[in-house]
Amino acid sequence: MRVAVIGAGVIGLSTALCVYDQYHSVVQPLEIEVYADQYTPLTTSDGAAGLWQPYVDDKRNTQETLWNKETFDYLCGHLNSPEVEEMGLFPISGYNLFTQPVPDPPWKDIVLGFRNLTAKELELFPGYSYGWFNTALILEGKSYLPWLTKRLKQRGVKFFHKKVESFHEMVAKGVDVIINCTGVRAGELQPDPGLMPGRGQIIKVLAPWVKHFVLTHDLESGIYNSPYIIPGSKLVTLGGIFQLGNWNEENSPQDHKTIWENCCKLLPSLQKAKIVDEWSGFRPVRYAVRLEREAVRHGPLKSEVIHNYGHGGFGLTIHWGCAMEAARIFGRILEEKKLARPPQSHL
Ligand SMILES: Cc1cc2nc3c(=O)[nH]c(=O)nc-3n(C[C@H](O)[C@H](O)[C@H](O)COP(=O)(O)OP(=O)(O)OC[C@H]3O[C@@H](n4cnc5c(N)ncnc54)[C@H](O)[C@@H]3O)c2cc1C
Ligand SMILES: *[C@@H]1O[C@H](CO)[C@@H](O)[C@H](O)[C@H]1NC(C)=O
Ligand SMILES: *[C@@H]1O[C@H](CO)[C@@H](O)[C@H](O)[C@H]1NC(C)=O
Repeated sequence: MRVAVIGAGVIGLSTALCVYDQYHSVVQPLEIEVYADQYTPLTTSDGAAGLWQPYVDDKRNTQETLWNKETFDYLCGHLNSPEVEEMGLFPISGYNLFTQPVPDPPWKDIVLGFRNLTAKELELFPGYSYGWFNTALILEGKSYLPWLTKRLKQRGVKFFHKKVESFHEMVAKGVDVIINCTGVRAGELQPDPGLMPGRGQIIKVLAPWVKHFVLTHDLESGIYNSPYIIPGSKLVTLGGIFQLGNWNEENSPQDHKTIWENCCKLLPSLQKAKIVDEWSGFRPVRYAVRLEREAVRHGPLKSEVIHNYGHGGFGLTIHWGCAMEAARIFGRILEEKKLARPPQSHL
């Protein structure tokens, strides 16, 4: 069984690990290859702040809420492990702020200690009249991706630095299953009008006195298009840019000004913070995550594709639930191909 995973962001690497761990004892040999033209630390997943938080409104997509929950619970299960430092994982508490009352989010019972803000807490944030406090997690791609890569290498997974031009190229190589984890550029391989870049720009600052995340929400300008502050293990991420359809990779001085001024207004102590880095990236925005299979043909050859892309501004938040779903789809393909052998009886 030959499997090619296209993409080495958080989605590709976690899906490769999940498929290997669940099926290597069932099908032998199970060869997994990862193809990507960008690896850590250069993927979108490396640039993300890594806060576990889904969108405030899940548009009643209960399936995605469940994948988010599976990811949160899986990561919480690691919190008492000595691995956390290497994984880039730690708990963090903080605030979500609004200018008017809003319904509780669908993830209120997934995070820890979700509650409304008190009047005294709201006094800390002039201009905001409503909000929540809870404990969630940070999972930093710049640590987590190397951690996943190390585990995959230990399992014999091979990595190729290469741009895949078409699915047919993979089919022609005799790959049985292609797993499509190409993020925002998935549309280059097969047009998907539902997929769009949600451009973001962030400033990384040295401000070790900032210990809580602060996300503001402006119901008019849309998700993450208003200031947010997210402390990481070393640097604090300042953001608040979400531009749908903008493919500009350069940092924009205008966006820099917007982020800096709005974040300093939200938390005036940031005026003393040292700017260390700046980055722009594209959230793979889609009306819903695409996680399904499709048969592709190349002459007489046939492969199965499992698509796993379109995780918007919450790829780290949802990745493990999606990896497990992709692995379940993989299991169904094995059953159809009659490749899955039940474990041998030892009697
Ligand atoms: C500013 C910003 C802040 C964010 N903050 C958060 C956050 O706090 N929490 C959160 O959960 N999410 C956050 N996100 C969203 C998160 O970064 C994405 O959802 C996630 O990284 C998507 O992962 P991915 O693996 O699908 O894509 P990527 O990380 O972009 O990986 C795609 C991979 O596919 C490869 N690839 C693509 N096309 C080809 C091809 N044709 N051939 C070969 N390889 C190919 C690339 O080289 C790369 O390896 C943020 C995003 C941005 C932009
Ligand atoms: C927060 O307050 C609103 C009403 O103002 C209420 O409907 C909601 O249940 C409260 N949430 C929690 C978690 O207490
Ligand atoms: C991955 O999905 C994208 C979006 O539909 C598509 O453009 C691309 O062709 C797919 N890649 C493969 C190898 O199926």
